[in-house]
Amino acid sequence: MRTLVVDHPLAAALLTTMRDARTTNPTFRAALRDLTGILVYEAMRDAPVERFPIATPVAAAEGTRLNAPPLLVPVLRAGLGMVETAENLIPDARIGFVGVARDEETHQPTPYMESLPDDLSSTPVIVLDPMLATGGSMVYTLDLLAGRKARDITVLCVVAAPEGIAALEKSGHAVRLVTASVDRGLNSDAYIVPGLGDAGDRQFGPR
Ligand code: URA
Repeated sequence: MRTLVVDHPLAAALLTTMRDARTTNPTFRAALRDLTGILVYEAMRDAPVERFPIATPVAAAEGTRLNAPPLLVPVLRAGLGMVETAENLIPDARIGFVGVARDEETHQPTPYMESLPDDLSSTPVIVLDPMLATGGSMVYTLDLLAGRKARDITVLCVVAAPEGIAALEKSGHAVRLVTASVDRGLNSDAYIVPGLGDAGDRQFGPR
């Protein structure tokens, strides 16, 4: 699996804000939005473009647009906070949804909804989930996408655990991971260490 760890001072500062336990919900959401922008920007760096003629107010010129705008797939609920920035940067993107809750006892993913196009054979897909912890929810999502013939998949997350990366590798799905950090590992409750806590609770408040 190809892994890109985005090493940038602005990304590191935003991640620091998100990690800090004193950060309020609104400030956490704002930092997540801004950091998502940096991650999307890096993820799309080599995206194929097509050229087409335009006219500026002054002269004829050449414009570019994405060859194949992606499908954005936030994994609910924590991935919701990443969608707005991603769709602002890629206005032609379509959006699908996968809902997976985590069983706090077993740490197993519990799916509760999916809304995805049937055929993704010619659509790049960007999966949005701030945390790659055990990898259970992500492997479940990748299985769904593979069932719809997705071949070009990028996983975008803020923090990844080595255990989650190993789970993606073991799953055999050919994906690319773009993240702001690979942390030390998981604790006994399957939280990422040092991580940033529960990314859903930190955005939306505790359930
Ligand atoms: N999900 C989270 O929100 N945080 C973790 O640390 C692990 C999974």
